[in-house]
Amino acid sequence: SGRAVVVAIDGPAGSGKSSVARAVARELGFQFLDTGAAYRALTWLILEQGGDTDDEPTVIGSLGALDSLELTVDAAGQRVAIQGHDVTEDIRTERISGAVSGVARTAAAREAVNVRFRAIIAAAAPGIVAEGRDITTVVAPDADVRVLLTADEAVRVRRRFGDVGGDELQVGARLAARDASDSRVVDFLNAADGVTVVDSTHLTFDETVDAIVRLASEEQHD
Ligand code: CDP
Ligand code: CDP
Repeated sequence: SGRAVVVAIDGPAGSGKSSVARAVARELGFQFLDTGAAYRALTWLILEQGGDTDDEPTVIGSLGALDSLELTVDAAGQRVAIQGHDVTEDIRTERISGAVSGVARTAAAREAVNVRFRAIIAAAAPGIVAEGRDITTVVAPDADVRVLLTADEAVRVRRRFGDVGGDELQVGARLAARDASDSRVVDFLNAADGVTVVDSTHLTFDETVDAIVRLASEEQHD
């Protein structure tokens, strides 16, 4: 076909989006875009400057820094930097997860990062797997493959707990609170028209990756 294939994946926290999307990209030889990283990088910068992400003017005031946001789209691993600081690791902490929803609910922030995401997707070759909360609906509604990746909350909490450790009850409470807050901004709990639900509750990691690779392969043969 020649033109870039776009695979869009949305879903709640801990459903497996970033790890699965990266593996799908690796298998297909595509690029990989973790859109949550942009929201997390802005959050990191605001906290670094002593700001509060729940204060909308503060969030809006930080958007100029997006010019300095570096998001690599290599399926081997996405490097994230803002204002010259490599924040690849630091944006994954619970401190950032706990403050990121304030950025996500600021409409001007969403519009600004979406401009970046659409430019990255438009320039992708030979294809790209992009994941987040609103990729199938807002960022790339025309994507060739659109997936809502879900899993029961208890399973998502166990997976996230396995990754971050700490107190499982607290991990669960934070994950549920973030999903509740995020889902007031965009609906990633119900599949939009044309979006295929992949429920990974009873799937292994490899089975989840295979299910999405298969959807992409079918699309490429059309
Ligand atoms: O990996 P996890 O599911 O925990 O989160 P993430 O994908 O890194 O996203 C971090 C946060 O960014 C989410 O909790 C949302 O507040 C926001 N986000 C968003 O609003 N829209 C997106 N397309 C991606 C992330
Ligand atoms: O990005 P998101 O928050 O949706 O999830 P993630 O951080 O990519 O995945 C959370 C954890 O679930 C990772 O450790 C994955 O390896 C794991 N996972 C799993 O055990 N089984 C699956 N079918 C999918 C993901």
